[in-house]
Parts: sequence; C-alpha cells; structure tokens
Amino acid sequence: MEDLSLHILDIVENSIEAKASKIEIIINEDVKRDLLMIKIKDNGKGMDEETVKKVLDPFFTTRTTRRVGLGLSLLAQATKESNGNFEIESKVGKGTEIKATFQYSHIDCKPIGNIKDTLTTLLVAHPEIDFKYEYKNAKTRFSLDTKKVAL
Ligand SMILES: Nc1ncnc2c1ncn2[C@@H]1O[C@H](COP(=O)(O)OP(=O)(O)OP(=O)(O)O)[C@@H](O)[C@H]1O
Ligand SMILES: [Mg+2]
Repeated sequence: MEDLSLHILDIVENSIEAKASKIEIIINEDVKRDLLMIKIKDNGKGMDEETVKKVLDPFFTTRTTRRVGLGLSLLAQATKESNGNFEIESKVGKGTEIKATFQYSHIDCKPIGNIKDTLTTLLVAHPEIDFKYEYKNAKTRFSLDTKKVAL
C-alpha cells in the first residue's frame, strides 16, 4: 500500500466488519518528537486474547471469502519499516483500539496521502456509523464528528 490513508481505510473496514457503530480516527503529526501517530478505535465486537495474538499472522483471518488477512499485518510491517511501533488492544463485546507509530523523518515512513478521500469514502458508504476524526500537528487541530454535523 502506498500511503497511510489507504491503510486507514483498510483498518476501518475491520471495524465496520466487527459491527462498530462508533469509529474514531486520530492522526497526530508531532514533528518535534519526530513521531507520526495513527489511532483507530471502535466499539465493535472486539476479540479475545487468543485472537489478538494471532491477528498479525497474515494467514489468520475470520473471513470466509479468502484465506489470508493482510490488513493488520501490512500496517504493522509499515510501522516496523520506519522505526515505529504497532499496538493493538481489544476486549470482547467492548471494542478494539489500534495504535500505529512511525518515525516521521524516516526515509521509509509512508506519506499520509489523501485522507480526505478515505474519509469521504467511509462517510458516504456508512452514514449509519458515528465517525470521529481528529488531526493534530504543532500548528493546527481539526476535528469532525458525524453525529454533530448534518451531511
Ligand atoms: N476492529 C476489529 N474488531 C474485531 N475483530 C477484528 C478487528 N480488526 C481485525 N479483526 C480480526 O482480525 C482478523 C485479521 O484482520 P486483518 O485486517 O489483518 O485481515 P482481514 O480483515 O481478515 O482481511 P483483509 O484485511 O486482508 O481484507 C480479522 O479477520 C478479524 O477476525
Ligand atoms: Mg482487514
């Protein structure tokens, strides 16, 4: 995948698949700390500990249509390639939180890409879901909550 906005689209698809009604996407570009952070949080069905341990295995999937599940392992790989870190926390019946960090200045750190397209795609395809989006850098802060605006 070329850029992070496509990874985000992919990870949010997991949340949708997990029947989330609320999905939060947070991007923090912290140039001072040389850190790019992406967080995706949902209130979907969650996973038990056993499943969480297996999700980074590209051959683990609960899909029945294909035998591989690449979304999470590709994102985890992208973090490793840029000296970052990948964390996943999940509770059955509660939801899942994914945190991916990247060394901002690393030559292999992927660009964020077209986050506008990612958000538009998600919002238009899933008007029933409450999406929260927050973007922060040293100078600006932008946030959006689909429950609070009329589209
Ligand atoms: N947010 C989530 N909530 C609940 N389960 C999840 C979530 N994200 C991932 N999973 C579980 O982890 C598995 C692996 O996810 P991953 O995105 O790596 O692959 P996939 O979704 O199965 O396939 P692909 O992303 O390649 O279409 C999923 O099949 C699902 O069982
Ligand atoms: Mg997936």
